[in-house]
Amino acid sequence: MNRRGWLQAGVVALGLVPLAWLAADAFGDRLGANPIEEITHRTGDWTIRFLLATLAVTPLRRLTGWNWLIKFRRTIGLIAFSYATVHFLIYIGLDQGFAFAYIGEDIAKRPYITVGFTAFVFLIPLAITSTQGWVRRLGGKRWNALHRLVYVSAAGGVLHYLWLVKGDQVTPVYYAAVLVLLLALRIRRSPSAARPVEQRVDLLADASRGAQIGGEPLHRPDARVQP
Ligand code: HEM
Repeated sequence: MNRRGWLQAGVVALGLVPLAWLAADAFGDRLGANPIEEITHRTGDWTIRFLLATLAVTPLRRLTGWNWLIKFRRTIGLIAFSYATVHFLIYIGLDQGFAFAYIGEDIAKRPYITVGFTAFVFLIPLAITSTQGWVRRLGGKRWNALHRLVYVSAAGGVLHYLWLVKGDQVTPVYYAAVLVLLLALRIRRSPSAARPVEQRVDLLADASRGAQIGGEPLHRPDARVQP
């Protein structure tokens, strides 16, 4: 494996730490009086954290000039999707005991579940189309438009959290503030709006060679294309 492969493996290993921790606590009987609730909460927390981390890559890259960060965005996005999947599976399996009729009713009737479910559903096409093959198949423009859904999903995740919390809302408000900040940074300096047409065409060509989950192609040698 080359250096980049090792780094990617390192990011995946780091992403799995909270899950391993959760499993260790489950096997060690350290999940408290309501283990299912604790697992749901912890997987939900890590879903939103990794989603926001995915969205933070581009602004961080622009602020620091660390272009290599972009190579890890797809991996971080897929880690977020994995936590969302575990979170959802815990809900349908352990929490609701696979009672699908009731689950359907719950999704339709409880607004915070409706929003959480929508946020999760929006992540599915992003995970599927995060490969290089899909960037090529869709073309840079359509692929980019589709991957902007990650913002909708993150907003849905934050709203889901704000809605479900009873009492102290400090943590979800904190996540909402981070999301607004990331969106503001993105809107303030949208590269596609700022660049001349020929450079955008250049980026589309780059898009067909890279892939990620989260709104911008993986191989984006900005050092070359930025004005
Ligand atoms: C992108 C998708 C999602 C995100 C970001 C997300 C995030 C979260 C967060 C942050 C929490 C609270 C954790 C805490 O209190 O510490 C939570 C709780 C919860 N989520 Fe999600 N969630 C998502 C999708 C879903 C889906 C699809 C379902 C089920 C259909 C679901 C069901 C729940 C339930 C039942 C709780 C616990 C509610 C309670 O304790 O009253 N979530 N989620």
